[in-house]
Amino acid sequence: MLRLVLLFLLATVQGQTTDIRKMSEHRCLGYAWVADGNRFRYSELKMLPGNKMFYNGQYLYAFSTGIREGQTIHIDAQLNFKYYGGNFEFNVLGGTPIIKDGSGANVLHLKFTKIKNLMPPQSGQPARQNSTASLAVIANTLKNNEWMREIKSGAPFYGDKFLPLTITAMPDKFEIRTFGEVLLHYPYRLPLDYVQFVNALGEGLELSQIYIGGQIMMAPLRAVFPNGGIKPGFTLIIDAVAKNSDFSIAFTDPENKFGIMLEIKVNFSKQTVILNSKIGKRWGQAVRGSYFPFKSGKAFNMEVRFFERILTVYVDSEKELATFDYRALPTFGEMSFYGSLEIRGISVCEPQRWPMHTGDKYSGLLTKQTYSYQRGENTD
Ligand SMILES: *[C@@H]1O[C@H](CO)[C@@H](O)[C@H](O)[C@H]1NC(C)=O
Ligand SMILES: *[C@@H]1O[C@H](CO)[C@@H](O)[C@H](O)[C@H]1NC(C)=O
Repeated sequence: MLRLVLLFLLATVQGQTTDIRKMSEHRCLGYAWVADGNRFRYSELKMLPGNKMFYNGQYLYAFSTGIREGQTIHIDAQLNFKYYGGNFEFNVLGGTPIIKDGSGANVLHLKFTKIKNLMPPQSGQPARQNSTASLAVIANTLKNNEWMREIKSGAPFYGDKFLPLTITAMPDKFEIRTFGEVLLHYPYRLPLDYVQFVNALGEGLELSQIYIGGQIMMAPLRAVFPNGGIKPGFTLIIDAVAKNSDFSIAFTDPENKFGIMLEIKVNFSKQTVILNSKIGKRWGQAVRGSYFPFKSGKAFNMEVRFFERILTVYVDSEKELATFDYRALPTFGEMSFYGSLEIRGISVCEPQRWPMHTGDKYSGLLTKQTYSYQRGENTD
C-alpha cells in the first residue's frame, strides 16, 4: 500500500511521460546486436523486467516506442484466472500512454475478456482453483475519440498460465499471434507512425517481458556476425515463421576455413532436425534433435547458446532440442539460411557481464548472397 502511494506521488510529481521507460529491442540479458537493415546494430537498451506504474488514475505497464513495418512486439505475460482475473488488454497508442477521453489515438486496442467470472469461495468452502479459461478476443481502434467497429477473433482463445503474444506490423495489417499461431489479422485504421506508446493492463496479468524488434527477411539469407563473430558465452536468437517445407542453417568460422562447422537441417516430411558438420569434404556424425518443434505457418523462436566446447539449441521452450560438440573453432563467423523460411528477427546476445561496447554501432552484414562454405564459391 505504501509503495502504491509512493508510486502515485512519483507519477504525480514527475507529471507527464518523462518516467515512461523506452521499450527494449531484444530479449537478451546483456547488450545485444540486432538485425537492422543490411547490418547488425548495437543496442544499448538492456532487457528490463516489466514494472507496473500508476499513471493518470490507471495502474498499468507503459513503455514508449515507435513501430516500423516488419517489426514485432513480443509480449510474454503470466496469467492468473482466479475469480476476476483474465480480463486484460494491450494498447498500441499515440499521444498518451493511456486511453483517456479526448486525447490520443489507439491504433490497436486488443482486449481479452473472460467469458464467465468465477465466484469467490464462500467462507468455509474450499477455494475453486482453475488456471485455465476461455477468453473472447476483440480488437479495435480509437480514432478522433470514437471507437470504430470491433473485430472479433473467430474462435475463443484458450487461456492458460502463460501468454506468449506477438504483434507484427505487416504491410497492411497487424498480425497477432499467440503461441506462434495466428489469432487475428487486424487491418490498419490509423497509420503506424502514430504509435508512441504500448501499454498492458488488467486483472491477473503480469508481464514477464516485452520488447520490440526485428524485420522481415526471406531465406536465402547470409548473416555475417558482428564484431568478429560469436564466441563462447554468446547466445543467438532467431525469430522466424516456418513454412511447410525444409530449411537449413549452416554456420562457419570467421575465415571460412573449416567448411560447415554446424548445419541445422529441418526436414518436415521426416519430422527430423539433424545437426552435423562438414569439415573439409567430410560430413561428421549426425546428431538428431530430441523432438520436432516446427509446424507449417507457426512462428518459432530458436535460441542457440554457445559455451566453451559445446552449443545447445532450444526452440520455443526450456526443453533442450540438441547439444552439439564443437568440431573446429569455438568462434562462429557467419551463418546462412537455405530453403523456405521467413525470418523476423536475429539478435546476437553478448555475455551478460560484458561492458557496453564503445566502437562502431553498426557491424556485420545481412545479404541475399549466400555462401556455399566450400572454400570460396558463391551460390545464389
Ligand atoms: C477449468 O477450465 C476449463 C476451460 O474453461 C474447463 O474445461 C475445466 O472443466 C475447468 N476445470 C474446473 C475444475 O473447473
Ligand atoms: C527430407 O526427407 C524426404 C523424405 O525422406 C526426402 O525426400 C528429402 O530429400 C529430405 N529433404 C532434404 C532437404 O534433405
